[in-house]
Amino acid sequence: MKFEKNILCIGAGYVGGPTMAMIAHECPQYKVTIVDINPDRIAQWNSDSLPIYEPGLDELVKATRDRNLFFSTDIEQGIRENDIIFVSVNTPTKTFGTGAGMAADLQYWEKTARQILEHSTSPKIVIEKSTLPVRTAHAMERILNSTQKSVRFDVLSNPEFLAEGTAINDLKNPDRVLIGSRETEEGLKARNALVEIYANWVPRKKIITANIWSSELSKLVSNAFLAQRVSSINAISALCEKTEADVSEVAKAVGSDSRIGSRFLNASIGFGGSCFKKDILNLVYLCRHYGLDDVADYWEGVIKINFYQQERFVQNMLTAMFNTLAGKRICLFGFAFKANTGDTRESPAIYVARRLLEEQAEVVITDPKALDNARIDLANAQGKIHFVDDPYEAAKGCHAIAIMTEWALYGELDYARLYRDAEKPAFIFDGRNILDPQHCFEVGFNVFSIGKRPRTHF
Ligand code: NAD
Ligand code: UGA
Repeated sequence: MKFEKNILCIGAGYVGGPTMAMIAHECPQYKVTIVDINPDRIAQWNSDSLPIYEPGLDELVKATRDRNLFFSTDIEQGIRENDIIFVSVNTPTKTFGTGAGMAADLQYWEKTARQILEHSTSPKIVIEKSTLPVRTAHAMERILNSTQKSVRFDVLSNPEFLAEGTAINDLKNPDRVLIGSRETEEGLKARNALVEIYANWVPRKKIITANIWSSELSKLVSNAFLAQRVSSINAISALCEKTEADVSEVAKAVGSDSRIGSRFLNASIGFGGSCFKKDILNLVYLCRHYGLDDVADYWEGVIKINFYQQERFVQNMLTAMFNTLAGKRICLFGFAFKANTGDTRESPAIYVARRLLEEQAEVVITDPKALDNARIDLANAQGKIHFVDDPYEAAKGCHAIAIMTEWALYGELDYARLYRDAEKPAFIFDGRNILDPQHCFEVGFNVFSIGKRPRTHF
């Protein structure tokens, strides 16, 4: 069959997989190929057991795979045969050399740029889908134009705003699609080609165009603003605990102001995920690079509060449980960084589990989708750790239950039964404020929520 366009995506991860599956689904007239250097990942994408858990993704892949969606390890052939190339390789925080712990590590990105240059024999539109420091497109263009090759390359920025757990809906009904380009004749032509792809299912008024630097920067700033809201309410949760104000009531009152809005005001054990911390660190690094230390300090505060909130949670457990956790069995309900994903990257549960082990507690972990990743995350942790599928089994004989992830199922358990099977006095620390604290108190638990007064029997 002859397809209207041939589209390639390099990087078959949490972004590349769902994003390209959506394009293939909404545009049966295009052929979409996803390539990756990791053959195991590609084999999983080609199997019945996809490498990532995302509600609705299985159905999308089943409907498109081997029809107009293909997964392959042949990156070179992919580059040769496709003229529109999305790049969604990982851009983690650098762990070595200048900028270690702050700057984005661009080695995977640069390797891809060089590979595109080497194997291209026809003009290409290269699209930054990964989150990148502002002005990366400039570096990309310099690499692509570094030889005498007469092939034309146009670089666009098209950052992805999907959130894990809701990725399919976010892709199907995005708040906006952002496309940044050079404002030259060729740049605008490339931009229009990408607009046409999205216009197959996204209303045109939601497709925002911008200059390429605004587009790159907007992605970092979007994540920084979202994370800032979580840190803001988490900072206030500490004050609530000192003053008998209730953080949920405060969030509701504050968020009802339409200028502020109600979303991203759920106080929690802290934000996790592969991007918030990484992208803010990247923003902070860029500000320092440009000599904007006050601006850098401002954004660094968002990360400091996030760390403070995680440690505060552990300190609250220690204080409540008579200043020692040694030998106590503590059950973590959830390990994923948020509900409806198996992803545990930067999950606050990793920090809490490690701190509890340091305090010589025995840690039992349960999660409906993230236990495999939890085992990997804690592979080198010292101490007694158990991984248990069933939450009732996991909590049996425990001194405390700590809610780490807001999975709906944890709100629906029988807390009277959990109390009966718990070691007494029994504690609940609700790191997500998903439980009814009064009910849990009435069945016997001592209940500590985030930003609310404790309910204790002593
Ligand atoms: P990921 O680690 O899940 O996937 C990246 C993939 O790229 C991996 O499968 C890896 O094997 C592959 N890869 C690395 N180098 C390669 C190369 N040279 N050639 C071919 N494949 C290569 O990462 P992710 O979560 O999909 O994130 C990718 C980018 O998207 C990051 O910049 C991230 O900040 C951004 N982003 C992520 C999310 C999210 O929800 N995870 C949302 C928006 C944006
Ligand atoms: C986030 C952004 O929401 C996406 O727009 C962006 O594309 C993505 O990062 C990215 O660049 O990777 P994601 O990390 O998947 O998406 O999930 P979020 O829903 O943003 O949650 C992030 C963290 O904040 C989670 O740990 C969540 O539990 C926490 N959170 C969120 C709160 O603690 N309180 C809230 O009110 C909201």
